[in-house]
Amino acid sequence: EKGEYRHFMLKEIHEQPRVIRATTEGRVTNTRVLEQALGTQAGNLLENVRHVQIIACGTSYHAGMVARYWIEDLAGVPCSVEVASEFRYRKHVIQPDTLFLCISQSGETADTLAALRQAKKAGFRAAMAICNVPGSSLVRESDLVIMTQAGPEIGVASTKAFTTQLTALLIFTLALARHNGLEESREAEIVEAIRLIPRQVDQVLALDGEIAELSKSFMDKNHSLFLGRGAMFPVALEGALKLKEISYIHAEAYPAGELKHGPLALVDGEMPVVTVAPNNELLEKLKSNLEEVRARGGELFVFADQAADVKAQEGIHLMQLPSVHPITSPIVYTVPLQLLSYHVAVLKGTDVDQPRNLAKSVTVE
Ligand code: F6R
Repeated sequence: EKGEYRHFMLKEIHEQPRVIRATTEGRVTNTRVLEQALGTQAGNLLENVRHVQIIACGTSYHAGMVARYWIEDLAGVPCSVEVASEFRYRKHVIQPDTLFLCISQSGETADTLAALRQAKKAGFRAAMAICNVPGSSLVRESDLVIMTQAGPEIGVASTKAFTTQLTALLIFTLALARHNGLEESREAEIVEAIRLIPRQVDQVLALDGEIAELSKSFMDKNHSLFLGRGAMFPVALEGALKLKEISYIHAEAYPAGELKHGPLALVDGEMPVVTVAPNNELLEKLKSNLEEVRARGGELFVFADQAADVKAQEGIHLMQLPSVHPITSPIVYTVPLQLLSYHVAVLKGTDVDQPRNLAKSVTVE
């Protein structure tokens, strides 16, 4: 039931603090990840993993893209990410010490299951799943499962499934990283950051009115560009996917550094540019990209850390977010982009929960 909310999507966006907490609960102490909570076999299966191959589709694929930054940064283990429909139709080399990780909300996505079954023939160390539906095919066919505790997701556009996937992936990354020499103090620092996420998401949800105001600028636009750097690039991709699927506005996402290699030619007053810019080491670089957009008359929508040195001015709409640890920022920064798409779709009068041409679970190819 939607309760006080006008749409399931809005309800599910607002459930995120609670379901992220539920996905964390029982899996971390104040300072550490509880490996046994990921499964009695977890310690055994994560030892000697030399490569992680992530497979997923759509929003779940974006979660995998964020996880790649975490896995390589914290665990120092090489990680590849590929959409299932591509993976299953090409020849590939799978090392025997590979952890094969499928991410899926439904656990029934045809391409993801086909990729897993195919990879099983090629051989790998273990099959792991991040999934939201207990008893789904994916869960049944995997050796190690971390369930996201998002509860049923009704809106076709995935929201709480994505942020709980990210939460589960970060907890998994810490467990893997411990087998690969992550310092205890660093683990404690990140566990603390994870525990802060629900409160930070609550703070972002409180910006709902301001974001609704911003969304008016998108109503009469046909195109938009989303920029991010590092682990915020997949967040930009996810923001663009949400906007296109529910508001039908063409949205593209680019790593900010690619702007001058082509897409800058598109920028003018009719092309809103959305940037996700937490206060990390890439912010300075991102700022010069923002100037490039401004110089061409592009209107900018910047979501930035309140501590960051970015100022609202003519043509720059600034939305200040709470200060977030750089590792957890992809989770927190996803939320304002969900709200932005939601409000644009509501203004345009589209069917928010059931966008045209789309199905919740893609069980056929
Ligand atoms: C987008 C969306 C889809 C799904 C994709 C994979 O909002 O919901 O892109 O993420 O169809 O579905 P699952 O995660 O069930 O495998």
